Amino acid sequence: MSRIRNEQFRSKVMSAEQAAAFIKDGMNVGFSGFTGSGYPKAVPVALAAQIEAAHDDGRPFKIGVFTGASTAPELDGALAQVDGIGFRMPYQSDPVLRRKINEGFTDYCDIHLGLSGPLTASGFLGKLDVAVIEITAITEDGELIPSSSLGNNLLWLETADRVILEVNHWQSLDLYGMHDVYYQPALPPHRVPIPITGAGDRIGQKTLRVDPAKVIAVVETEAPDRNSPFKPLDDQSKMIAGHLLDFLSHEVKIGRLPRNLLPLQSGVGNIANAVLAGLLDGPFDQITSYTEVIQDGMVDLLDSGKMTVASATAFSLSPQYAEQLNDGAAEYSQKIILRPQDVSNNPEVIRRLGVIACNGLIEADIYGNVNSTHIMGSRMQNGLGGSGDFTRNAYISSFVTPSVAKDGAISCIVPMVSHVDHTEHDVQVVITEQGLADLRGLAPRQRARLVIDRCAHPDFKPALEEYFERALRVANSQHTPHDLATALSWHVKFLETGSMKGA
Ligand code: COA
Repeated sequence: MSRIRNEQFRSKVMSAEQAAAFIKDGMNVGFSGFTGSGYPKAVPVALAAQIEAAHDDGRPFKIGVFTGASTAPELDGALAQVDGIGFRMPYQSDPVLRRKINEGFTDYCDIHLGLSGPLTASGFLGKLDVAVIEITAITEDGELIPSSSLGNNLLWLETADRVILEVNHWQSLDLYGMHDVYYQPALPPHRVPIPITGAGDRIGQKTLRVDPAKVIAVVETEAPDRNSPFKPLDDQSKMIAGHLLDFLSHEVKIGRLPRNLLPLQSGVGNIANAVLAGLLDGPFDQITSYTEVIQDGMVDLLDSGKMTVASATAFSLSPQYAEQLNDGAAEYSQKIILRPQDVSNNPEVIRRLGVIACNGLIEADIYGNVNSTHIMGSRMQNGLGGSGDFTRNAYISSFVTPSVAKDGAISCIVPMVSHVDHTEHDVQVVITEQGLADLRGLAPRQRARLVIDRCAHPDFKPALEEYFERALRVANSQHTPHDLATALSWHVKFLETGSMKGA
């Protein structure tokens, strides 16, 4: 069966090169795509070639790139490689683009993912000229069956002046029914409560709408989503996952959590995946998830029956699991719900459901402030992503990290973080392979002692204790004691010598 079942759209089919030619220097383009799923596969590559040709002719050509979250080498990588991205929002994790950001070429606006759509709709980021959206098919009525992520697609389709659609034949037609596309007023004072009271609630429709008059091109593709495989689970990840699972068991035992927990949010990366793997052998049944991305570990939980439903906005699957999901999409549609990201990451819903949040970090300080984004205070790694949406509003907000980085040269527990993404007021639980610090209800000086005692690596624990004792003396045991003269000396020492040891 044709995937373009509406004549009006069929008449707009053209090559990726022809479609890309609609995009001009200085435009803002809203691409689909979220953590390597559902991004357009052909138009960005064709556009990159046109940008390169323009530069060869001495013509300027760079655009603003708006997405749901990170994409893939065919989008962020290809466009960054040819110096085609002047502005980028709201999240990225591409090595080439990261370099362009840190060289000062690309202006990067690192935004809470749940806020990125409404912020665009409000006009703060300028006009959205073109939307380039991957979909699975177009129905007879001209409605769009989404592909493997929803992200900001709804808003890009509504707010862009013109629309290019990529129909990807690789995406399973059985994705129809997995999405819960909820149309809500984007801006106050017209917003209304989002009527979700359980992770499995469906409140919207199966398809996306688009004004056919805005559609200028339809491009057909057949290419898989490109995600990286997860690293095999190592002992360290298993230890971190073990501490978190013991903590959750304890919370159940003393009656602060129900036996099937509360909906889980799991961040990106290998440790988050290890936590999910730990749940597979753990004591909890009938688990649910209200999160942003569905990773391999979550698919295993769904397959095993331990998890009953997973709500997200996108997939972040290894190639093997992406194929598996595609093959079994009809069945997975019964247990997986993909929502727009301003619903999956909505503070109101996260707070109401009482989500248990678990995210990775770069470094945490002894008082519980967390840096998720910047290496040594200045160098952007990926971005905030949805970690703030969840951390700020969850019932339990936890962070997981190895206690050291760079083969032990860096302590991930430091006197003072070199950049703050999540403050001590929002961070409740910090977990390393050494142990877990439950900071809820503690004052700063109590938090510092616990974080050092439970989370710091033995190589750095004496130095952290020494710092804290000095800070107490220097600051006369004030509320949050710091010795400002040396608070960041650990980072300075690393920058000067390649190691924090001896700071
Ligand atoms: N100081 C300096 N560098 C550090 C560091 C520290 N304290 N901790 C880690 N690093 C380096 C690592 O060595 C690695 O460097 P490399 O790329 O040169 O190898 C890099 O930072 C990434 O570390 P890694 O341990 O591989 O990361 P991860 O896969 O566990 O992810 C984050 C950790 C923080 C980068 C990741 O969770 C993230 O981007 N978080 C923000 C977004 C987010 O939380 N999204 C989820 C919301 S749903």
